[in-house]
Order: sequence, then C-alpha cells, then structure tokens
Amino acid sequence: MNMVFLGPPGAGKGTIATQAKVFYSIPHISTGDLFRAEQEKGSELGNKVKSIIASGKLVPDEITIEVVKQRLSQDDTKNGFILDGFPRTIAQADALANIVNIDAVVNFVVDKDAVVKRISGRRFCKSTGRTYHVIYNPPKVEGIDDETGEPLYQREDDKPENVKTRLEVYDASTAPLIEYYRAKGKLVDVDASPAPEVVFDNLKKALTK
Ligand code: AP5
Ligand code: ZN
Repeated sequence: MNMVFLGPPGAGKGTIATQAKVFYSIPHISTGDLFRAEQEKGSELGNKVKSIIASGKLVPDEITIEVVKQRLSQDDTKNGFILDGFPRTIAQADALANIVNIDAVVNFVVDKDAVVKRISGRRFCKSTGRTYHVIYNPPKVEGIDDETGEPLYQREDDKPENVKTRLEVYDASTAPLIEYYRAKGKLVDVDASPAPEVVFDNLKKALTK
C-alpha cells in the first residue's frame, strides 16, 4: 500500500510509522529524517536546508520534490511505502500525483495543546534517530539512548520559538491538504490523541474499512 501520513508537527507520525513499517513490511520515508541525515553528513543539500529547518519554515518545493522523487525511484518502494511529512503543500501533492498513485492519506487528528506537549518533551539519538519523550516514552536512563548509550538531544526546531512558526506553517500550507485529499476520496481520519498503541490500532482498523 502506498500511504501518506499527514498531520501537524508532533502528532506522532514518526512514532506510528516505526510500528506500521514493520507491520506492513514497507519502508518509512520521512522527508524530515532525510533532511536531518543530510545535515549530519554535512552534504551540500544538508547545509542548504539547515537554517530553514531550524527556524521551522518549509524547505522550497523544488528541492523537496526532487529528494522524494529520487527516494521513490529506489526498488524497496515497489510493494508500498509510508511517506511521512510529504506532501506538505498543494504543489507537492500535485507533483506526487504525477510520480505515483497514492492509496490512502492518513490524517492524524490531535489538538494543538497535545502536540505542543509532545514536541516540547521530545528527545532523540543523533546516530540512530530513535525518538523518546521525557514523560510519555522516557529512556531507561535519563538523557541516554537505551541501545547506543549515547546522549539524547532536542531538535533545534523543537525549541519553543520555532514550534510556533511550525504550527503557523502547518495551518497555512499543509492543513489545506486535508480537504484536497478528502475531495479525492483518499482521506482516512485517525484519532491520534490516545497512547501510541491505541493510535496504531485505530490506524489498522481505519485502513481495513
Ligand atoms: P519533520 O521531521 O517531518 O517534522 P514535523 O512534521 O514537524 O513532524 P515531527 O517529526 O515534529 O512530528 P511527528 O508527527 O513525527 O511526531 P513524533 O512521532 O516524533 O520535518 C522537519 C522539518 O523539515 C520541517 O519543519 C521542514 O522544515 C522540513 N521538511 C520536512 N518535510 C518537508 C516537506 N515536505 N516540505 C518542505 N519542508 C519539509 O512524536 C513527537 C513526540 O511525541 C515524541 O517525543 C513521541 O515520543 C511523542 N508521542 C508520539 N505519539 C504519542 C502519543 N500517542 N502519546 C504521547 N506521546 C506521543
Ligand atoms: Zn517526524
């Protein structure tokens, strides 16, 4: 199945995708993760997008579309994929429609207060990308990754001043995609407010309807 995960920052798209990719045996493609990996490598692309991402604004459409096009051309996407965080603008959605057919767009429905709490407590391991939450999903030892023993970090764009920008950008540029995909009959609403296991159950049920 070719799926898109749509939802505000901090809705839990990445958390649920880590479970869904195993369950459905399809790759999890997060444009945010792809950009962060480029930054870690110090590539030209990584350096170009670094300050844009830190501030919470969107990377220009032409750059993002090219990154996704290349990723979707790889063999492991033949039996399906989860696109997490793409498309985020109408132009990206139109471009995606020209690349591949999308079967379902999962809309993560959760209120703003909850996403702010989720984002402010998020921590991650730079080498594995594994994500924690200081309250909802804490590591065994505070500030340390369970497997690698490396220190955990807060994403630059998770600092309060940048979170405000990300939520505004979501409302202005990404939220219109809800009606865009609803009109095409592809939207699947999932209540993303409960604990992750329940959200994943909600997703599985919604996709079999
Ligand atoms: P990206 O990495 O996609 O960030 P985002 O959309 O802001 O989404 P997040 O990763 O913040 O949230 P999430 O929904 O994955 O939540 P998570 O599972 O981690 O993009 C970053 C930046 O890259 C963008 O701002 C932009 O600059 C650029 N970019 C990316 N794609 C782009 C595009 N298409 N076009 C242009 N620019 C692009 O969960 C959050 C926290 O909550 C975690 O701590 C987790 O443990 C916790 N949590 C998760 N689920 C639950 C739950 N059910 N209950 C309690 N806690 C939970
Ligand atoms: Zn994410």
